[in-house]
Amino acid sequence: MSNTIIIFGASGDLTRRKLIPALYQLFCKGRLAEETRIVGFSRSPYSHEQWRQRLAETTAQHAGDTFNTPQWQSFSQRIFYLPGDIGKREDFDRLKQYLDEQRATAAPAGTKDSGSDQRIYYLATAPRFYEPAITHLGESGLANQRHGPRRIVIEKPFGTDLASARHLNQAVHQVFHEHQVYRIDHYLGKETVQNLLVLRFANTIFEPVWNRNYVDHVQITVAESVDVGSRAGFYDSTGILRDMFQNHLLQLLMITAMEAPVRYEADSVRNEKVKVLDAIRPMSAEQIRADTFRGQYRGYTADPAVSPTSRTATFMALKLWIDSWRWQGVPFYLRSGKAMSCRTTQIVIQFREPPQKLFASNSPTLVDANRLVIQVQPAEGIQLHFQTKVPDAGMRLRQTDLDFSYQQEFHGMMPAAYERLLLDAMEGDASLFARADEVESAWRVCDPILNAWHESDRPTLFMYDPGLWGPTECGQWMAEQGGPAGGRQWFDSCPVLGA
Ligand code: BG6
Repeated sequence: MSNTIIIFGASGDLTRRKLIPALYQLFCKGRLAEETRIVGFSRSPYSHEQWRQRLAETTAQHAGDTFNTPQWQSFSQRIFYLPGDIGKREDFDRLKQYLDEQRATAAPAGTKDSGSDQRIYYLATAPRFYEPAITHLGESGLANQRHGPRRIVIEKPFGTDLASARHLNQAVHQVFHEHQVYRIDHYLGKETVQNLLVLRFANTIFEPVWNRNYVDHVQITVAESVDVGSRAGFYDSTGILRDMFQNHLLQLLMITAMEAPVRYEADSVRNEKVKVLDAIRPMSAEQIRADTFRGQYRGYTADPAVSPTSRTATFMALKLWIDSWRWQGVPFYLRSGKAMSCRTTQIVIQFREPPQKLFASNSPTLVDANRLVIQVQPAEGIQLHFQTKVPDAGMRLRQTDLDFSYQQEFHGMMPAAYERLLLDAMEGDASLFARADEVESAWRVCDPILNAWHESDRPTLFMYDPGLWGPTECGQWMAEQGGPAGGRQWFDSCPVLGA
């Protein structure tokens, strides 16, 4: 079977930084099918060779010491380029003709047909081009599956609110069946996010305590040390809620909170994930004021691409409730921000305190109770915190932990999320991609917050200095989060790399 990946937006950043390096790594690992070709499509007037050369430089930068020139040369012979404009239907006709010719030349000598011919259309363009690209793929016959599977991979953001996501889904479904559509959230391609499924559903000891009877609350933090950098213009009209919460944080929440799927296949997994979103308690405007927290780092508006009066949030925290038997009464705290202390993505399952404090000399608090910390990145691993008796010190206790580190256990480098996702798209496994209803349900959670944040009585926008854990007021807000055990605390911890 031949396999062609057609990248729309081929001259863009995503192609250079993520897609080609991931495909190159897959090639080096022998995971790409023999007959795989990559065709770039965008307006820049490159020849095949010029594009290959550009990609050689950027892939070498990305791969560092692991870049191997002979291997690249062999890989790059599979890379082709066709200049074209997404807005022009005739350019899609040219693309079709080009792909059909390539297919014909790939046919074994003496035959007319090269067998099944799979095509993956990857939309790595600015989101405003998604709809015209999809429409033109349909009109030019490129979505027709007569000669083999046709799939479309769509990058985030998928819409900017529920109405636009619905509209885009309708446009997609005019041309592709849902099973042909792969909506990317690269967090699902991270090894540690998949490992969360394994931790929960390939072990027996966690399930009995993974519920309201044992869990006091859950914290999900995605902190980034970088600021908005060169994306300030885009970011100012997007903000943290659309950029990180609607997708990455809600994905982490779904996998943390979902029930076990009946089997590990795309629809079973996604059915359970969607149930979590549908069980999130709708928030009234008043609750949004009380339970969402907005921040902006100092210096954000100094960027020439940002309006000096911008109120866009670069930090956000929020409390959600999931109305289900498992999670009733357990708050989920989600937070994310740019320009924070360090880069870390962590999921903290904070267990309840023991019912009786037999050994406490000075009343321990919730932070002394058991805690499971899932380090999604960059110090991938899991820690279980528990109390231990300090030797030779009466009945003094101290918190210690069982520490699992990917680095120590498996040594090699973690594969990039895009490697896994590209491979799955080629193999037709959509388990790690978002389904139409999933994306819409995620917007259904976010839309009321977006709307409330535009009202005149919206929550205050707190300023914070870069290099902190967001606004100090957010720590205060958390400390005021009651619960039977009293005040709560954010788990503010920069993981130790290389440990
Ligand atoms: C992207 C966001 O989806 O994820 C970026 O648009 C963010 O703003 C990035 O920096 C974070 O991804 P990662 O894999 O570095 O955590």
